[in-house]
Amino acid sequence: MASFTNKLSSLFLIPAVILSFLCMAVPSIADLQRLEHAAKADGSLSLLVVGDWGRRGAYNQSKVAFQMGKIGEKLDIDFVISTGDNFYDDGLTGIDDPAFHESFTKIYTAPSLQKQWYHVLGNHDYRGDVEAQLSDYLTKLDNRWICLRSYIVNAEIVEFFFIDTTPFVKKYVTDPEDHVYDWSGVLPRKQYISNLLKDLDLALKQSSAKWKIVVGHHTIRSAGHHGDTQELVSHLLPILQINQVDLYINGHDHCLEHISSPDSPIQFLTSGGGSKAWKGDVNWWNPDQMKFYYDGQGFMSVQIKQTQLDIDFYDIFGNVLHNWTTSKHLHSTM
Ligand SMILES: *[C@@H]1O[C@H](CO)[C@@H](O)[C@H](O)[C@H]1NC(C)=O
Ligand SMILES: *[C@@H]1O[C@H](CO)[C@@H](O)[C@H](O)[C@H]1NC(C)=O
Repeated sequence: MASFTNKLSSLFLIPAVILSFLCMAVPSIADLQRLEHAAKADGSLSLLVVGDWGRRGAYNQSKVAFQMGKIGEKLDIDFVISTGDNFYDDGLTGIDDPAFHESFTKIYTAPSLQKQWYHVLGNHDYRGDVEAQLSDYLTKLDNRWICLRSYIVNAEIVEFFFIDTTPFVKKYVTDPEDHVYDWSGVLPRKQYISNLLKDLDLALKQSSAKWKIVVGHHTIRSAGHHGDTQELVSHLLPILQINQVDLYINGHDHCLEHISSPDSPIQFLTSGGGSKAWKGDVNWWNPDQMKFYYDGQGFMSVQIKQTQLDIDFYDIFGNVLHNWTTSKHLHSTM
């Protein structure tokens, strides 16, 4: 809680953001920290999503960043979401790792990107010093930076639920190969996962937001290199479905991808094209559900209004590769 308080004070620099503590009436509410992000005056919100990026500008990271700046300005974005794998190959070595400056601050320099960045951790981040990425010291170095393990960003018409998915994936524990993961803070693992799922379910049930979006690093559904993440299909997906989550947004597979679901309205969106892409690495998927797959670099935008939500995917030239729109009728919240 102490470091959260420090983070709070450094955030007063950004007037749009008001952090609030767990002030919900129900005492059993989740440990999920709640942040408030004011929407625009008309209640709408727009943002960009990028994932799998930190490579000191290499593998087109700088080109993606440049286009994000242009699209960010055009859409007048409110914030940016990072789907994790923030620093390659092995996260940050500590709070003073120069990669923070070289892969983040120095890369995303456009005026439109000087907004809050909400991050989750990816598996590569877990191979470094996790506490460093969670530290409010980074927020002091660059006041855009917000990275917590699992948390909620409430923007009135939409609530974002950021979920720490790396601990779900069993093979990182049972078969870490030559990697060392920093599991401090998430042990015992099973209890960590079950608490997180319980907290998420409760927070989703208590949400009165018109739109509900869940963000994690790992895939639930993907035709890319890693494919589905079975642990998330088994344990996370049922909670998203029962609570009528609109979108699940992830990275991990280094591509841009949109898959729909045969048995619920949820859309699976992969934005993992922030730097190195995996050309040609795609598996067959039912064409009825595979709306879009791109094996190069790029990013995604989300525009949200009371009655409409728009998704667009962009390549490194700023071309729209794919778009998707859905609407909900205007009626008062339940
Ligand atoms: C950068 O993007 C271009 C256009 O998509 C692609 O042809 C090229 O291979 C990419 N470079 C790298 C290093 O990925
Ligand atoms: C969405 O894509 C369609 C073609 O697939 C295009 O006609 C339309 O203009 C696009 N809309 C936006 C807002 O980019």
